[in-house]
Amino acid sequence: MKLWKIALIGLGSVGRGVAQVLKDNPQFIIIAAADSKSGVINPSGLDIEVLLAKKKTTGRCGDPKLSAARIAAEADYDILIEVTPTNSVTGEPALSTIKTALLRSKHVVTSNKGPVSLASAELLGIAEEKNVGFLFEGTVAGAVPILRGIKYGLAGNKITALYGVLNGTCNYILTRMEGEGLTYEQALAEARDLGYAEADPSSDINGTDAAIKLVILANTMLGMNVTLADVNQTGISGLTVAALHMANINGQSIRLIASLNPEKNTLEVSPRLLPKDNPLVVSGTLNAVTVETEYAGAITFIGRGAGSVETASAILADLLFITDKYDR
Ligand code: HSE
Repeated sequence: MKLWKIALIGLGSVGRGVAQVLKDNPQFIIIAAADSKSGVINPSGLDIEVLLAKKKTTGRCGDPKLSAARIAAEADYDILIEVTPTNSVTGEPALSTIKTALLRSKHVVTSNKGPVSLASAELLGIAEEKNVGFLFEGTVAGAVPILRGIKYGLAGNKITALYGVLNGTCNYILTRMEGEGLTYEQALAEARDLGYAEADPSSDINGTDAAIKLVILANTMLGMNVTLADVNQTGISGLTVAALHMANINGQSIRLIASLNPEKNTLEVSPRLLPKDNPLVVSGTLNAVTVETEYAGAITFIGRGAGSVETASAILADLLFITDKYDR
């Protein structure tokens, strides 16, 4: 069995999920890891449980002099997994880490939305030139294989519209407010405790996280060329329990819907009233995306859109795609 050497950058919620799923996939060996303050390399393989325990007690997994940037530039790995928190303004430091790895002809798998929403064309261009994989299934809709579903499952179909629930935190909050009558603040506190929210949860609440995912879908799957500034965006912080209650009485639910129309070049994120039997009225952290196509009609993908091991599921699929395609 060929062993694939992994550099794991990011030991937060998603990094822990990745460590967990890799335990069941012994063809992958983690030879380097980094958190935001330190790093560690061991060519014969790292015990991630030990590292995570060390990080919990000391706040660091390794040597403060060994940064993610140095690991990306110097370590002897085959695939770099980048799962640090999203920076939607600069994409950094993840953008530089990913670029360094690709320029060294290393495969990269990431769930980090910042670099992909800001620089997908450039990063995919480098990957193509270097003949390596740059995959990011976990950036959109967590465990739901929406990117591969569109690219391969719906290959050849023209997509005429796409709309869906792309933020698990907002959906969780709306579900808890609607179902249990929790206030917005109580429901947000729960979503944070459960590890669904971004490091800065205001980007979930104000619609930015869903907008970033829409940009990734638009640019990488629908041939568009847009930025976050092109998304007309409204969040959920203005919604009250009373508004949700009123919708409920009328047989409706409110969901934060991200939508795009490639022909009109329009992108929008906003709370919308939907009949309760609409497939996009999903509960908790589920995401749902309806893709309208030329030949296949409308297809809806539904599944867990946030969470540690759920996002790691998408990362594992990307890793296996790489090991299948690039045998080296
Ligand atoms: N904070 C994000 C969400 C995580 O709630 O959907 C997954 O991208």
